[in-house]
Amino acid sequence: MTINLSYYHVASDVPENNSQIAVVIDVLRATTTISWALTNGADSIEVFADLDMLRKKADNWDSEKKLMLAERGGKKIKGFDLGNSPLSVTKELVAGKRLFMSTTNGTKSLQKVQNSEYLFSMALTNRKAVAKRIISLDKNDVLILGSGWEGSYSLEDSLAAGALADYLINNSNSKVNIVNDELNAALALWHYWKGDILGCLKTATHGKRLTSIGNYDDDFKCCSQLDCLNIVPTQVEKGVIRAS
Ligand code: MLT
Repeated sequence: MTINLSYYHVASDVPENNSQIAVVIDVLRATTTISWALTNGADSIEVFADLDMLRKKADNWDSEKKLMLAERGGKKIKGFDLGNSPLSVTKELVAGKRLFMSTTNGTKSLQKVQNSEYLFSMALTNRKAVAKRIISLDKNDVLILGSGWEGSYSLEDSLAAGALADYLINNSNSKVNIVNDELNAALALWHYWKGDILGCLKTATHGKRLTSIGNYDDDFKCCSQLDCLNIVPTQVEKGVIRAS
């Protein structure tokens, strides 16, 4: 069995044909937040690229059973309950609730590949859990999609894509075929930075962007943790993600 593994930096790069398995990555910070929110007992997360669509859908939801999360430019949007910090989705706040979520890039990437047979949300926190799920599914085509920043390349998402490929190469009984050079480069990046993940996140342009608008040190530490969460956020219906 061969796993054909490809990586695309941003949503606009993804070829039209739907893949069997799609893995969306937004290390800083959307998919890290998703991994912690579900770990802390959120019932589900519904993702939106468009804020008006989010508001319209959330309006029909029981106010006791929902939370509204939105970030643009790294900042929380006025009128929403939370921004996009993985530290803000505490058990007390999210347990049993549906989170309506929109971020600058991450939720766009999740929406881009929502027609895939399997769609997983991955960060460094749950890389191993997602890799083990991919291995258990025995499928040939696996597409990894980063989120970048408004269409531009992201160092931290590529680092995580390399980390996923490295785990699959070293732990799967299948042959792993690297389909494109975006992934070859991501693998090389992982081998270069894997001893200093926090340093990589702070070197990244989005890391610098966050540092320029406030003290995000705790977010960086949280987003740089590797394999600390045994959770596989999975799309269960279009746009809706649950722990599986
Ligand atoms: C994004 O979607 O671009 C990021 O998650 C933004 C952020 O939260 O810093």
